[in-house]
Amino acid sequence: MLVDIITIFPDLFDSPLRSSLLGKAGERGLIEVRTHDLRQWAKGRHRSVDDAPFGGGAGMVMTPEPWFEALDALEAEERPEGRGRVVQLAPDGARFDQAAAVRLAAEPRLVLCCGRYEGIDERVRTRVDEVLSIGDYVLAGGETAALVVLDAVARLVPGVMGNAESAADESFSSGLLEYPQYTRPAVFRGLEVPDVLRSGDHGAVDRWRREQALERTRKVRPDLLEEPPR
Ligand code: 6GU
Repeated sequence: MLVDIITIFPDLFDSPLRSSLLGKAGERGLIEVRTHDLRQWAKGRHRSVDDAPFGGGAGMVMTPEPWFEALDALEAEERPEGRGRVVQLAPDGARFDQAAAVRLAAEPRLVLCCGRYEGIDERVRTRVDEVLSIGDYVLAGGETAALVVLDAVARLVPGVMGNAESAADESFSSGLLEYPQYTRPAVFRGLEVPDVLRSGDHGAVDRWRREQALERTRKVRPDLLEEPPR
C-alpha cells in the first residue's frame, strides 16, 4: 500500500513512521508512506496557505489553490497504485471506526489530507472521496487523526501483523470489547490469575472469555450492544 500524507507539518510524522509497526511495515516494503509539505504548492514569498473566511468569523481557512495543486501533482505522477482514495481528516467527517479501517486497508493507495486552522475551503471537497473524523472532540489539526487512521489501517494490511488471528479476535471486530488478558506470574502481589485460564480446558476458557467480553461491554460500552454484532 502507498500512503501519501499532505500536511503543513510533515515533521510531525517522522517519529511515528520510524517507530513501531509502521516503521517495520516500511522496512519490509509492505507500506510506503510519503509526507508532502503543502507549502511547496503555495505561491508568494510567504507561501501562505490560509486566509480570512468569507462571511467573517474567527480564525483562518486553508485556501483551495495549494490543495488543488497538490492533488494535481500527485495524480500527474501516474503511480502503478492508481490515484488512490483521497481522504480528508476533519471533525465534521463521518466517524472513523473498525469497519472503515477494514475498508481502507483494501485500497492500494490512500491520500490523507490534513487540515489545520478552522478548516479547508469547502471546494476542496470536490477532489476528496470521503471526509473522516476520529471522534467527537476537536483536535488542532488533522495530523494526529491521520496517524490514528494510518495505525488502524496499517495493522490490517496483509503481512504487517505477525499473528493473523489476533486481528479477528480483538475488540470491535466481534462487536464486543476484548476479554481480560493475563500473563505470568500466576500470582503477583497477591493478585491471582483466574483459575479457568490455567485449567487447560479450552472450552471453559472460550466460554469464560465470551462472558467477560459481554460483561465488560455491558458496563463500559452499552451502546455497542444496541446494534447486532457484525
Ligand atoms: Cl479528523 N480533525 C480535527 N481537527 N479534529 C478532529 C478530527 C479530525 N477528528 C476528531 N476531531
